Amino acid sequence: MTESRSIIEREKKTISKALNLRFHPISVESAFGTRIKDTNGTSYLDLTAGWAVANIGYSREEVAKVLYDQYKKLSFTTQLSAPSETMTLLAEELIGISPGAFEKKVWFGHSGSDANEFISKFVPVASGRSKMISFFGSYHGQTMGASSLSGHAAQAMFEGRGNVVKVPYPNEFRPFSGIKENIKEQSMCFLQEVFATVCPPEDTAGIIIEAIQSDGGMVLPPEGFLKSLREICDQYGIYLIFDEVKVGLGRTGKWFAFEHENIIADAIVIGKSLGAGVPISAVVGRSEIMDAVVAGHMFTASGNPISTAAAIENIRIIKEEKLIENANERGKQFITGLEELKEKYDFIGDVRGKGLAIGVEIVKSDGRPDASATAAICYRAYELGLLLYTVGIHSNVLEITPPLIIKDEEVEEALNLLNIAFKDIERGDFDYSKLEEYAGWG
Ligand SMILES: Cc1ncc(COP(=O)(O)O)c(C=O)c1O
Repeated sequence: MTESRSIIEREKKTISKALNLRFHPISVESAFGTRIKDTNGTSYLDLTAGWAVANIGYSREEVAKVLYDQYKKLSFTTQLSAPSETMTLLAEELIGISPGAFEKKVWFGHSGSDANEFISKFVPVASGRSKMISFFGSYHGQTMGASSLSGHAAQAMFEGRGNVVKVPYPNEFRPFSGIKENIKEQSMCFLQEVFATVCPPEDTAGIIIEAIQSDGGMVLPPEGFLKSLREICDQYGIYLIFDEVKVGLGRTGKWFAFEHENIIADAIVIGKSLGAGVPISAVVGRSEIMDAVVAGHMFTASGNPISTAAAIENIRIIKEEKLIENANERGKQFITGLEELKEKYDFIGDVRGKGLAIGVEIVKSDGRPDASATAAICYRAYELGLLLYTVGIHSNVLEITPPLIIKDEEVEEALNLLNIAFKDIERGDFDYSKLEEYAGWG
C-alpha cells in the first residue's frame, strides 16, 4: 500500500489544482457501503457520499455486474447518431418518477454542469425571451452558462453571461436584509422589484432554483416559498426549473426535493448520484423546452450504454431497498441527535435539513459565521474516523449527506464522533496550523 502523503505529493506535481476542494489529507484506496478506506489502511464512516454521489453506497456488486455485462455486449454507441435501448429505458424511468401530467422528454449529459448548461441555452430559446433569474448563493456548475446561473462566492472571479439576474434566496437563519421576520415575503418583494425594473416578466424565460440550496449552505426555504414562486411563474408564463443535482433522487425523503411543496417543475436537472459513481446527468422537462433546438447541445458520450445501464440499476436499487423511506427516517434521527448537540455547544447556530440533506451552521459568539472553527471540526472529525465536508457562502456549514443506506447504529456512531470533535474544538484542543492547505472553499 502506498502511503497517502506520498500519493498526495505525486498528485501535487502532476494534476492541476483547478479540481482541488480539500478538507483533509486523504487519498482513497477502496470503499464499500458507507465506509471508505484510505491508502494508509484506515477506515472512515462517510457522511459525504463523495459530494452526494454514492447514494446507494460504494462499490455495489449489482452495479459492477451490470457494468461488466453491458460492456461485454455493447461497450459504446453514441446517442447522437445510433441510439441503444438502455438510453430509452432510462429516459422512460426518469419521466416515470417526474411529477406533472404533461409531455416530457429527457436529455443526457455527463455532469451537473453540462445539464445546467443545457438549461442556460435551451430555456431562453424555447420561451423566445432572453433573461434568466437565479439566486444568490446557488451553485449550478462550472461551464460558462452554468456558472453564469450560479451565485456562489467561490465563483465570483469568472465573468459570466450577462442575461442572468440574481435575487436573494430566502434564508431564515441569515436573512439578506438582516430582518428575521417574513423572510418569504421579503424575497418575493425583491423578485417583484426585479420584475418592475431590470428584468420585466415578458423578457424573463425562466427561474432556476435549488429546492434546498446545498453548496450555498444547506439552506431550506421557508414553507410555501416554492409554491409562491410556482404561482408567479404561472402568472407570467415563466418556466420554473429545479436543480436537483445534489438533493434529488431520494435524498430528502421524496424523489425530488421540490415535491415536498406538491408543485411541478417545467424542467428538472439531475446528476451526481444518477449513475451510482459512473458519470451521467440528465434534464427531464417539457417537450417544448427539450426539443427547442435540434442538435443544439451535443456531447459524443452522452447517454452512453454504460452510464445509462448503471443508472437504471441504481434506480432499481433505490426502489427495491426503499432508500427514500430510509433517508426520511435516518434524517429525522440525525436531526434529533444534532439538535441535542446544539443545546450543548454554543457555536452550533443552526441545525436544518430534510431527509439526509442536513446542514449544521457554526457561528462565533456574536452570531457571525465561523469558517475556521468549521474547518477545524471537519478536520478533527477526519482524525476521529468520520468524513464530512463544509459548504456555505461563508464556509461555515457542516454538510451531512451520507449514503442513503446508512443504518441507525451508524447514525449514532456519527453523532458520537461529532460530539467528540465538537468537544475538542470547544476546549481549544486543536492545532489550527493543520488547516493551512485544508480550508475547503475558502
Ligand atoms: C445543485 C448543483 N448543481 C450542479 C452542480 C454541478 O455538478 P457537477 O459537479 O457534476 O458538474 C452541483 C455540484 O456540486 C450542485 O450541487
